[in-house]
Amino acid sequence: MARHLTDSRLQRVLAAAEVLERDPHGVKVARLPSGVYLKLFRRKRLLSSAAWRPYAQRFVANARALTRLAVRTVRVRAYFWCPQARRHVVAYEPLAGETVRDRTGNGGAVDWPDLARFLAYLHRQGVYFRSLHSGNIVCLPGGGFGLIDIADLRMLRGPLGLTRRVRNLRPLLRDPALRPRWQAMPFQEFLDAYCRAAGVRPRQEALLRRLAWWQWARCTGQGSGASVSDSASLTGSR
Ligand SMILES: Nc1ncnc2c1ncn2[C@@H]1O[C@H](COP(=O)(O)OP(=O)(O)OP(=O)(O)O)[C@@H](O)[C@H]1O
Ligand SMILES: [Mg+2]
Repeated sequence: MARHLTDSRLQRVLAAAEVLERDPHGVKVARLPSGVYLKLFRRKRLLSSAAWRPYAQRFVANARALTRLAVRTVRVRAYFWCPQARRHVVAYEPLAGETVRDRTGNGGAVDWPDLARFLAYLHRQGVYFRSLHSGNIVCLPGGGFGLIDIADLRMLRGPLGLTRRVRNLRPLLRDPALRPRWQAMPFQEFLDAYCRAAGVRPRQEALLRRLAWWQWARCTGQGSGASVSDSASLTGSR
């Protein structure tokens, strides 16, 4: 249940905070002097599922569910509703580390096969994170990965089906920050690592690979699926 927060208290807290993200409707993310983050959620449309299940509430529930699966994420401290500002507010401790986007932007190395295995783990556990792009994946200080910005995530009962797995590659393959990364050979390496950890049967794996290459061609505009599969079979890499 959300705790009540007055507008005057919210404004006081925000005045002392550093604003990290803002849009035309106001502050979206701020960092308090203590290092705690505040994320403000507003309902974007009048008629939406957010009416009965606010995004902030999903964020809180998802943080708990991910932690149960041993997936590192932010640690929620409190959850508020501010009626005057019409905002839900989640207070959380950030996840130690830097986002994949920041890491690649700074010229740092990312362990891509390990990222592929992380993705495979999420999919096996039934985690479907629709905003799985480089700004929402954190490289942990000791290696491995975690997730932030987790409101838009679904926990399914069993492992994801092939179509969903492949659809979930889209935000990464389309990610402008990763464009230079997705050449054919690096993607091959990524896909191999994913498949080894995916826990799918051999017949399914063959289909998964074909669908993934098709998605790759579609998202990166690098040749058709057919020419990719031809070149891949020529190099014996499929
Ligand atoms: N390790 C971290 N833990 C939490 N937040 C981080 C971390 N590293 C960077 N951030 C920053 O925190 C801010 C909030 O990120 P977040 O992804 O939650 O929201 P957003 O992408 O700005 O908003 P939205 O996607 O909801 O429009 C961003 O500036 C993000 O780069
Ligand atoms: Mg984000």
